[in-house]
Amino acid sequence: MNHATIIDDPDFVPTDAPALPQASRVLFAEPTHFDVAYVINAHMAGYVGKVDTELAFRQWEAVVAAYKAIGFEAHVVKAAPGLPDLCFVANQSFPLRRTDGSYVALLSNMTAPQRRPEVDVLAEWYAANGWETVRLPRTTVHFEGMGDAVWHPGHRVVYGGYGWRTHQSAYLARTYTVDAPVVALELCDARFYHLDTCFAALDAETALYVPEAFTPVARRMLQRCFPKLLRVPLDEAVDALACNGHCPDQKHFIVDQAAPKTMALVREAGFEAVGVDTSEFRKSGGSVQCLKLMLG
Ligand code: ARG
Repeated sequence: MNHATIIDDPDFVPTDAPALPQASRVLFAEPTHFDVAYVINAHMAGYVGKVDTELAFRQWEAVVAAYKAIGFEAHVVKAAPGLPDLCFVANQSFPLRRTDGSYVALLSNMTAPQRRPEVDVLAEWYAANGWETVRLPRTTVHFEGMGDAVWHPGHRVVYGGYGWRTHQSAYLARTYTVDAPVVALELCDARFYHLDTCFAALDAETALYVPEAFTPVARRMLQRCFPKLLRVPLDEAVDALACNGHCPDQKHFIVDQAAPKTMALVREAGFEAVGVDTSEFRKSGGSVQCLKLMLG
């Protein structure tokens, strides 16, 4: 996926990496068929058939509006029946701008069989919109897109979570190329099954994380990469998916309003906290960050 997978290199400084322009386009997927129809993560247990689908749609519209209000250009993938998790559009691919300025989307190999057909829906959207796409050579190597792979704000460095969904080997150079080093981070708590459930970068210096979700080596790596690494209270990280908030512009942190302590933490660090309600999506283990995909 890269030219070097960094596991624990004391000399690595992410802000030495080349600049990465901020994305201005954001993709969403209509939640028309969203539901908790099966259990593939700890948050979904007990919620099968318990989603208020009309409320979910209104909540999704408010999330889209929050991005538009701060200047992002929104694009939408049409709903597809039988794919209740399609609206978590961070997961089926990883779009990137190469160093030569061209764009490519790496398509995911979803872990859960129920979610695999979602990747074809995204592949069709990319084809219709003129994007080049790449698939992993082996379907046995799992990779869940921007759920597990997150850019360092403003720099060509990727944080790559593995352990629950994505396999560590997805980050090896012979599989995908992202034109950037990958800091591979091992996850060790099932409630934080994607990197974006326990880590949110705010700017080049600042990030939120849930220390409990990472192995000691991974924790040390994050401490080296972000001089201001802020610990999110465990209760809000679990119950409100506070680390699944998202900062698209190094200024605004869009997050579920059920996380007031995290909102205060972010404000103290100099960012603007924008509260939204994602209660229906949290029943499926997802919130703001996984309901959208930054396109570049
Ligand atoms: N129900 C979905 C799943 O378990 C939720 C995905 C949330 N996405 C995320 N990037 N955390 O796959």
